[in-house]
Amino acid sequence: MTEKRVKAVIEAVDIYKSYVMGKNELLVLKGVNLSIGEGEIVTVVGPSGVGKSTLLHILGALDKPTRGHIEIDGVPIATLNDEQMAQLRNQRIGFVFQFHHLLPEFTALENVLMPSLIAGKKGQKMAKRAEELLKSVGLGERLSHRPSELSGGEQQRVAVARALMNRPRLVLADEPSGNLDRESSESLHDLIFELSKTYHQTFVIVTHNEQLAERSDRVIKMFDGRISADTKR
Ligand SMILES: Nc1ncnc2c1ncn2[C@@H]1O[C@H](COP(=O)(O)OP(=O)(O)OP(=O)(O)O)[C@@H](O)[C@H]1O
Ligand SMILES: [Mg+2]
Repeated sequence: MTEKRVKAVIEAVDIYKSYVMGKNELLVLKGVNLSIGEGEIVTVVGPSGVGKSTLLHILGALDKPTRGHIEIDGVPIATLNDEQMAQLRNQRIGFVFQFHHLLPEFTALENVLMPSLIAGKKGQKMAKRAEELLKSVGLGERLSHRPSELSGGEQQRVAVARALMNRPRLVLADEPSGNLDRESSESLHDLIFELSKTYHQTFVIVTHNEQLAERSDRVIKMFDGRISADTKR
């Protein structure tokens, strides 16, 4: 993996993504240009089907663009094989999805520990960090609860703690509060802003939640596979 130190966490130049469906090609991203700096909280908004999740997957090295150049934390994705992509995701990116994807048979603490285990890190220090993270998301009293023993909002907070476990350069979230009631959504959003301040953590969040978009540093509007507006506050 080649690497150069850059301030931009993401550099995406002229990104296209298409899916081949039988004889047809479905063009989903049609030339996206984007640079995301350290510590920014960016929200991505737009109607259903415009390509928000597709873009997020590419920004998170879950998928490669059909065309265009992307660097994540200075690493050009085109040069990586699948294993290197997985390693980059594990070490530098945290994910939070609409449905938390916690492992049901493991406790909150074990779920948060999972990314460090995958990275081959073990021991008391890691357990301590996972515990600290759960405390910082307000779940210090829920360490040994399994996901089914937590509320929806609590499960999402565990997912946020898990996303931060390996001290990622970037946290990507796809409608993290899409499945929560208003109060739980607000407290999840408060948490994201707090964490961003404390850890200078960069967040890119796809959301249909207008209040969250209004509170973010920068709103990227998508329409028909393109960025139609990019507004910093
Ligand atoms: N793996 C795939 N194969 C084929 N088509 C796909 C695939 N993934 C997404 N699409 C299509 O690409 C388009 C964009 O999908 P995407 O999931 O990025 O939308 P979105 O903006 O996240 O929408 P929503 O707000 O509903 O989540 C959709 O029309 C979808 O049907
Ligand atoms: Mg989506």
